[in-house]
Amino acid sequence: MTRYAHITGWGMAVPDRILTNEEISKMVDTSDEWIVSRTGIRERRIAGKGESTASLAAEAGARALDRTDLSPSDLDLVIVATASPEHLFPATACLVQDSLGATKAGAFDLSAACTGFILALNMAAQAIISGSINNALVIGSETLSRLVDWEDRGTCVLFGDGAGAFVLQASERPGGVLSAVMRSDGSGGKLLSIPAGGSRYPATHETVTKKMHTIRMNGREVFRFATRVMAGATRDVIERAGLEMDEIELVIPHQANQRIIESAARGLGLPMDRFMLNIDRYGNTSSASIPIAVCEAIERGRIRAGDHLVLVAFGGGLTWGALAMQWVTPEAKVPPSRKRRRAITVFVARLRSLLRRAVRVIEGLIWGASSHVED
Ligand code: ACO
Repeated sequence: MTRYAHITGWGMAVPDRILTNEEISKMVDTSDEWIVSRTGIRERRIAGKGESTASLAAEAGARALDRTDLSPSDLDLVIVATASPEHLFPATACLVQDSLGATKAGAFDLSAACTGFILALNMAAQAIISGSINNALVIGSETLSRLVDWEDRGTCVLFGDGAGAFVLQASERPGGVLSAVMRSDGSGGKLLSIPAGGSRYPATHETVTKKMHTIRMNGREVFRFATRVMAGATRDVIERAGLEMDEIELVIPHQANQRIIESAARGLGLPMDRFMLNIDRYGNTSSASIPIAVCEAIERGRIRAGDHLVLVAFGGGLTWGALAMQWVTPEAKVPPSRKRRRAITVFVARLRSLLRRAVRVIEGLIWGASSHVED
């Protein structure tokens, strides 16, 4: 039997707080006119108190699960693609696994900056196609607003927070993920990085004073790299899927800069109406930008059952990649019963997590070792 990996659920979660260009122009020397004409961004979402990469990821993941017949315990794998993880470890994916109650799932983070979601989707799809697993939750989630230097006008205008998620399921029905291209060039790592906070530069007074824990970017070089790779990766992935360019109904590119997307469209000879754009309202949400754009494309009626799609991204690393798929899932409204079911599962997951922590504390008391660790 040939196995296929289909996206059967999708969901997104963005913070309520909107930060407009007008507001940013009161913080740094910039203007709405400059930001819109150079990037296409008008506003972005910023995580508030109590919101984090894990909380947005869990919310998007729960919404994606709501659209399926699966319960969290049916998941075999949770992958969170992120460049702004909750901690160095534990993986954000483990926190999501716990808060959703995905009791039988392996969980790990995937670090490939803005290309992360495409790589994670391909990893999960190949695990399904190989027969290793049946059901996976793949999430792209970011709170880059916490890692931006809010005095650097070259970067702070670009990024926003949010999360998007897909549920993937095994099926005998042809379609789903068809092909992928995954590429990297570490020689360009310094063009886009957060230098400190890892083992190379652990946190010191100096790293903090020099703002080495925030995003550093050579915008012009990243721009040139992006315009070079986007069209090529799109062409390659279409060829690998055995398709022709005119069979692609919609390209969903990473939303980093509208001018980069326009340049890719020119390179491919495709009109802009074949590209999904929502950068104006969210800015660059890194690994979350593609799943958020897919959710909005479905909402706008731009993706229909049977459509061929290409997802294409580039990012820090340097990394880039593309994925071709045939969307076979008809759009389905989430029945109210699912929302009730979710409330119950979330409650049970919290209770289970609490009980497991309590058991660890009791075991620690019995065996004479404290298992409680402060944050
Ligand atoms: N407001 C006003 N002026 C600005 C701003 C700003 N926010 N930012 C830069 N400028 C100035 C620069 O200082 C420069 O001034 P100068 O000519 O006096 O030196 C001038 O504008 C032009 O600067 P450039 O960097 O050449 O501007 P450019 O047109 O390239 O736009 C931008 C800059 C938007 C950053 C662009 O280079 C870009 O989008 N690059 C790609 C970035 C990207 O996609 N990064 C994300 C990768 S994904 C990931 O992995 C996280």
